[in-house]
Amino acid sequence: MNDYTLLDSGHGRKLERFGKITLDRPCAQAVWSPANPPLWKQADASFTRKDGLQWKGRERLPEVWHATVNGIKMKLSTTDFGHLGVFPETRDMWDWITTTLTAEASKRSEPLNFLNLFAYSGGATLAGAKGGAHCCHVDASKGMVQWARENAQLNGLSDHPIRWIVDDCNKFLQREIKRGRRYDAILLDPPSFGRGKGGELYKIEQALLDTLNLVKGVLSDRPCFVYLTSHTPGFTPIVLNNLLRQLILGGKIEHGEMLLTGEAHTFPVPSGTWSRWTQK
Ligand SMILES: C[S@@+](CC[C@H](N)C(=O)[O-])C[C@H]1O[C@@H](n2cnc3c(N)ncnc32)[C@H](O)[C@@H]1O
Repeated sequence: MNDYTLLDSGHGRKLERFGKITLDRPCAQAVWSPANPPLWKQADASFTRKDGLQWKGRERLPEVWHATVNGIKMKLSTTDFGHLGVFPETRDMWDWITTTLTAEASKRSEPLNFLNLFAYSGGATLAGAKGGAHCCHVDASKGMVQWARENAQLNGLSDHPIRWIVDDCNKFLQREIKRGRRYDAILLDPPSFGRGKGGELYKIEQALLDTLNLVKGVLSDRPCFVYLTSHTPGFTPIVLNNLLRQLILGGKIEHGEMLLTGEAHTFPVPSGTWSRWTQK
C-alpha cells in the first residue's frame, strides 16, 4: 500500500500528496515548467524559504497525520524547516532492503544484524525489521528517535528486536568496535551538516571518511550490504561509488540517483544519490 505520490513539479517547487494532505514545497532542482498548473490549487499548505522559513496554510493541517509509504506507516507532521518526517525518495531503497534481507535470511541459520546510521524517523529501520533482521537505529536527536519508535509502534513492530540509540554516529561506532559488535548490513545517510548528541559538529566533507572507516570496523565477516546515500550537493553517485570502492574490496558496487516519483505524466525528480556494495 502507498499513500505517497508526486503530483507535479516545476518552477523550483514540488507538489506531493501524503495520504489526505497535499503540499507544495521548494525543490530547487525542478527547473522545468509544471506539467499541470491548475493541479497546484489542490495544495492544503505550502512552504517557502523566501523572507525566512514559513508555512502558508499550516493552520489548515492536522498537527499529526499518518500516511503509508511503500507499505510502511509513518507519522507525519510539519516541522519549522519544511520537513515532514519522511524523505519519500528513499522508499525504493526501503523495498530493496526488505527484499534483500529476506532473501539473505533464507540462506542463514541466525538472524542478520542491520545497522541504520543517521536514521531519522526510521523508515529504513522498519524496512529492515520487515526483512526479519535484528536492527540497531542510531540518531543524535532524541526527538527523532522517539518519532521512529512511534513509527515502529504504528507498524506493529514495537516488540521486534530493535535497539534505539541516541548518540553521535562516530562515537557510537567507536564504542561498538571496542565492544566487538558486528553488523551484516549497514545503511548510512550522513547529513551535509549536523550535530552529535553532545553538540559535536558533523561536516560531511571532513567526517565521512572517519565514519566509513569505523563502518568497516563493525562489518561482520559475512557482510550482506553497505548502503551509502547522500543529499549533499556535489556528492554524486560516482563520488559515493569511489568511497565504497576504497572501503571494501571485491563484491559488486552499484549506484544511482534517489528519485521522487509519482503519476505517469510527472517527471521523476532527482533528490539525492546512492551507492551500495553487495557481496556478489
Ligand atoms: C539527512 S537526515 C537522514 C534522513 C534519513 N536517513 C531518511 O532518509 O529518512 C540526517 C539525520 O542525521 C541525524 N544526525 C545529524 N548529525 C548526527 C550525528 N553526528 N550523529 C548521529 N546522527 C546525526 C539528524 O538528527 C537527522 O535525523
